[in-house]
Amino acid sequence: MFYTTDDNRHGLAHDPFKAIVSPRPIGWIGTKGRDGSLNLSPYSFFNAVCDNPKLVMFASSGPKDSLRNVRETGVFTASLASRHLAEQMNASSISVEYGVDEFAIAGLTAMAGTVVDAPFVAEAYAALECRVTDIVEPKTIDGGKAEAIVVFGQVVGIHLSEDILREGRVDMGIARPLARMGYRDYADGGADVFEMTRPATPQR
Ligand SMILES: Cc1cc2nc3c(=O)[nH]c(=O)nc-3n(C[C@H](O)[C@H](O)[C@H](O)COP(=O)(O)O)c2cc1C
Repeated sequence: MFYTTDDNRHGLAHDPFKAIVSPRPIGWIGTKGRDGSLNLSPYSFFNAVCDNPKLVMFASSGPKDSLRNVRETGVFTASLASRHLAEQMNASSISVEYGVDEFAIAGLTAMAGTVVDAPFVAEAYAALECRVTDIVEPKTIDGGKAEAIVVFGQVVGIHLSEDILREGRVDMGIARPLARMGYRDYADGGADVFEMTRPATPQR
């Protein structure tokens, strides 16, 4: 099948786009408002975009509380969701009014960042402390504004549980990162891990 997205006539019961672009990691964005309130929300429009320096991004589909807080404070954390914390991750996605603490709703421990004033999930196997570098409102091909507002942050501190390390490497079978698939589907990123070596560069 082929369809163009101007009319999006795929003929399916559900738009397959987010299933096509999957799996996606889930950044559990932790922020603090100027009023001191804590916020935690999962974002699967989330990824690492640079290793040097370490940059990550998340995209807010319209203005949300996490975006408000990063605009107010210039910092956020991204904890990595895992299979063990799937239910808590889901619980934290609830739509509640500004100022309501989703760490408490999900029964998670909000740990204060070491170098940024934003909370992270103490139970997560890893969490990134980030300072905002850019907030971008992407354009569409007709020059209009997309729904997304993209927050880029430089990672300035990393928490990593030593329980998931084996021989100096992160063991995915233990960490079991949670992947967002399409629809309501998720996958266990520790379930089918295999190794490949990249091809050698041909000699010229
Ligand atoms: C697995 C998962 C991934 C999500 N990814 C996004 C996302 O990338 N962008 C977004 O705007 N909302 C996303 N959501 C919805 C937000 O988590 C939800 O709207 C949340 O209430 C936003 O909270 P906030 O207003 O406190 O920031 C996702 C929800 C789930 C369960």
